[in-house]
Amino acid sequence: RLSFITDKFGRPMHDLRISVIDRCNFRCTYCMPKEIFGRDFAFMPREQLLSFEEIERLARIFIDLGVKKIRLTGGEPLLRRDLPVLIEKLTAIDGLEDIGLTTNGSLLGNMAQKLKDAGLKRVNVSLDALDDTLFKSINDSNVGPERILKGIQKAKEVGLEVKVNMVVKKGMNDGEIVPMARYFKEQGISLRYIEFMDVGQSNGWNFEKVITKKEIFNQLKQQFELEPLDAAYIGEVAKRYRYKGTDAEVGFITSVSESFCSTCTRARIAADGKMYTCLFATNGFDFRELLRSGKSNEEIKAAITDVWNNRGDRYSDERTEETARNKKKIEMSYIGG
Ligand code: GTP
Ligand code: 5AD
Ligand code: SF4
Ligand code: SF4
Repeated sequence: RLSFITDKFGRPMHDLRISVIDRCNFRCTYCMPKEIFGRDFAFMPREQLLSFEEIERLARIFIDLGVKKIRLTGGEPLLRRDLPVLIEKLTAIDGLEDIGLTTNGSLLGNMAQKLKDAGLKRVNVSLDALDDTLFKSINDSNVGPERILKGIQKAKEVGLEVKVNMVVKKGMNDGEIVPMARYFKEQGISLRYIEFMDVGQSNGWNFEKVITKKEIFNQLKQQFELEPLDAAYIGEVAKRYRYKGTDAEVGFITSVSESFCSTCTRARIAADGKMYTCLFATNGFDFRELLRSGKSNEEIKAAITDVWNNRGDRYSDERTEETARNKKKIEMSYIGG
């Protein structure tokens, strides 16, 4: 590419995660607990969300600066009205190599075909348990796993590549580690175990509630033979393994036990147009203001370059009980993971 920008540690900007809405129809206890995200919680009014035109304009500039991969997130991105229209706009941009979506899967059954037709390639679906009662108690919204599994099935049928994300938290879903592995191995779907992270201010995190990759791996080892796979690309978030003698894979996202900041190439834009350079950031840079005040593409490009050049984030490398407890951090549902 012509322009190629790096941060303070020489990391290029390769991926862009765009949150399209801060709302979600689930209230996962570790992400949007009802005590905080209740009836009177102030979500963003519609006019504060970037429009599809604004998102597309920003995306084009980011791609010009070297971004190759876009991931759409939320909240729950399928709650954003007409999302396939945005996907169509984004997939039409020259230079973009990959576009994915991270979703809770509850609306996937209805949306899968439309997403595929709009040009989407892949979906990562969150599912923390197969047990009906347990899953409902985690998402606190009375949606059972059956509905998510149907959504996944539909996504596969229409030709989307599907991966499953499972957040593992001690005392919450430890007992689901092996059943989930068995089920998705059988389905040939890649399951990724995510270490519970100290995102935001409201999820009650502490080190004791983390089940590390090592602990999960030891459980799996007793049931399956696993062999490590090379990273698909530099800076891949998940460490992947293959079940021996099959094509089925399993992965681990080890933000707590083995941080991966040194290869972190991800920029993030929240639904209100603020750009963040880390999942654990405190402050963002307001691009909505620039977009709506008549700035030129060149001016916006210069601003993004400046933000990225000054980026020194490596939160997970430096995490302590103290930072986990006291650092002011943006919420997961706001920034989209
Ligand atoms: P792929 O493109 O399929 O590899 O997607 P992904 O794993 O990058 O994205 P996804 O939205 O599925 O995220 C899975 C988990 O990884 C979520 O819990 C994210 O919060 C976490 N994650 C993604 N990027 C980062 C990161 O830069 N830092 C940290 N700490 N966690 C991340
Ligand atoms: N730690 C780890 N993963 C989390 N997610 C949400 N909150 C947390 C947390 N505190 C997951 C979601 C989804 C992905 C985007 O991030 O379940 O799979
Ligand atoms: Fe659960 Fe994802 Fe919604 Fe958070 S954004 S409440 S993790 S479904
Ligand atoms: Fe990147 Fe921040 Fe995650 Fe480290 S903690 S990998 S810098 S987003």
